[in-house]
Amino acid sequence: MDTNELIALKLFIVGLLVSAWMMSKSSATDSFNLEPTFPSQRRICNESRLQWEVEVCGENFTRDMAHIDSQYWCNLTHIIREYHLFTSCTEEKSLVVNCYWPNPLVEGYMIRVHKHFFSNCTVEQVVWLDPPDDTLTVLILIPVFLTLAMIALVVWCSKRSDLLA
Ligand SMILES: *[C@@H]1O[C@H](CO)[C@@H](O)[C@H](O)[C@H]1NC(C)=O
Ligand SMILES: *[C@@H]1O[C@H](CO)[C@@H](O)[C@H](O)[C@H]1NC(C)=O
Ligand SMILES: *[C@@H]1O[C@H](CO)[C@@H](O)[C@H](O)[C@H]1NC(C)=O
Repeated sequence: MDTNELIALKLFIVGLLVSAWMMSKSSATDSFNLEPTFPSQRRICNESRLQWEVEVCGENFTRDMAHIDSQYWCNLTHIIREYHLFTSCTEEKSLVVNCYWPNPLVEGYMIRVHKHFFSNCTVEQVVWLDPPDDTLTVLILIPVFLTLAMIALVVWCSKRSDLLA
């Protein structure tokens, strides 16, 4: 393993730990406030609307990805912008329809999108990225990385259970 791979691996593990921590935190207690707060009334997550909204995000992402040569689909440097738009779209829409983000519906949808676009990518390819040259890129990368790590974990677990079944 060269230094780049080691750094990527470390980031990946940190990402897994942080997202696991965030998930346990958000399911264990309500005090970790992920739900949008509205002054007087507590709104209810509208799942059918969320399903529809998230599919719109997916369609936009599919359209954006079509502009990128599929040989670059595994290269984060090429797709980071589109991927970030997609994840922030799902986040925005979840909040609009009063749902937590991330939530099982969005995760399920993202896994389907990942299987469609990234099923042929290896972890080394996906994690590889040009060193970010400004703070903004780093700020964008952190949530994208957490999302990727979370999805990777779910996919990995489901692959394992497929193998064991
Ligand atoms: C959820 O959204 C759909 C579509 O906008 C709407 O028809 C339905 O009444 C909403 N359900 C609730 C419980 O607000
Ligand atoms: C990803 O794309 C960048 C920019 O085109 C390129 O420099 C880099 O070598 C590519 N990485 C891989 C693993 O193909
Ligand atoms: C993955 O590889 C298979 C077999 O080579 C190919 O048919 C499929 O289109 C590829 N999928 C993606 C998303 O590149």
